[in-house]
Amino acid sequence: MLINPDRFRQSIEEMARIGATKGGGVHRLTLSDADKQARDLFAKWADDAGLELQIDEMGNMFARRSGREDDAPPAMAGSHLDSVPNGGRFDGSLGVLAALEAVRTLNDKKILTKRPIEIVNWTNEEGPRFPPSMMGSGVFAGAISLEAAYEARDSEGARLLDELERIGYRGDAPCVPKSIGSYLELHIEQGPALVSEGIQVGVVEGIFGLTWLRVTMKGERDHAGPTPMHMRRDAMVGAARTIAAIREIPGKLHPEFVATVGEFSLSPNAINVIPDEVMFSVDFRHSEPELLNKARKLIEEAAQREAAKENLEVEIQEVGGSTPTAFDESVAQAVRSACEESGYSHRSMWSAAGHDARYAADLGPTAMIFVPCVAGKSHSEEEDMDWEDAYRGCDILARALVKMADS
Ligand code: GLV
Ligand code: MN
Ligand code: MN
Repeated sequence: MLINPDRFRQSIEEMARIGATKGGGVHRLTLSDADKQARDLFAKWADDAGLELQIDEMGNMFARRSGREDDAPPAMAGSHLDSVPNGGRFDGSLGVLAALEAVRTLNDKKILTKRPIEIVNWTNEEGPRFPPSMMGSGVFAGAISLEAAYEARDSEGARLLDELERIGYRGDAPCVPKSIGSYLELHIEQGPALVSEGIQVGVVEGIFGLTWLRVTMKGERDHAGPTPMHMRRDAMVGAARTIAAIREIPGKLHPEFVATVGEFSLSPNAINVIPDEVMFSVDFRHSEPELLNKARKLIEEAAQREAAKENLEVEIQEVGGSTPTAFDESVAQAVRSACEESGYSHRSMWSAAGHDARYAADLGPTAMIFVPCVAGKSHSEEEDMDWEDAYRGCDILARALVKMADS
């Protein structure tokens, strides 16, 4: 292998101690104290590797290694260090730390590439604390406005801008679109295809579109005893029926269509009170824009129909989304040739998970590298991977990054 597997593993393990949970995962919500600690550690390692660190107004971190043609658009690689609540150790960290290991390897071997290399840690890839997801890269690509991002609030009312300042990561560099030479992101697959087919590397050629909605239903609060059934306006019942209807929508559209209700809140949430307000989220994803539009219509119809039956008010708000995006064939080809040089089995695939590569693709040639994860599980403390798969992924990233940096 080109890279140093032991050093790479030590870095992953050290990073995983920040925000570590009892169940073996990490809890490192965007702009939390744990996110700050993870950023500080990455900044220290970048400094140790002789990289020049730049932080932009969104807190995106860019660690730069000079190239022979230092004005050329950089070959970028990276991912994110934030996590979902009680998430896995590899989701995000793998891609940032593999890019760091690639650069450490170039330093060891005293290789100077043609283009500069920039390792990036994007702010708020995950999104549960401050929707939408892929926010730092979205602002960088001009798809999300900086003002809207700064005004995002968490469930306790904390504002993103205040949290960014609190942890000391509101940088000076403008977060505006710039031309990039290439972008590569290594990530665990987070699904079962590679592991079930026994394939070592996924060459990711595109990324599903996704939409995030929040549905609020309002009824009337009343006593659970004396209120006759025919007089009730029970927000919970309207929500439950809508959620059950949403579960059936993907099956009507396409075998790869997915829809999830992952957030839910209920007021007043008391055993003897008829609920007057319910809020739930909907996340739905596919590679075809027409099917995403169709799903949205079906979800809205289901909510209106079920709300009407229970005499509820309903409001549907979009809180995030991105369109399906095909990646660049020349970057995918660099990944394929790296696999072939190393004798690793590979297959092409699209990603159903969101990644910052989605927005990087708006700025320059982009592709991703997937490696298997145990049972295809992720966004869970049970997320895990074989170290051999992690090393292979890191080695392929290093090889493909050098190809792009020399192109
Ligand atoms: C991010 O991991 C997402 O796909 O929601
Ligand atoms: Mn991720
Ligand atoms: Mn994730």
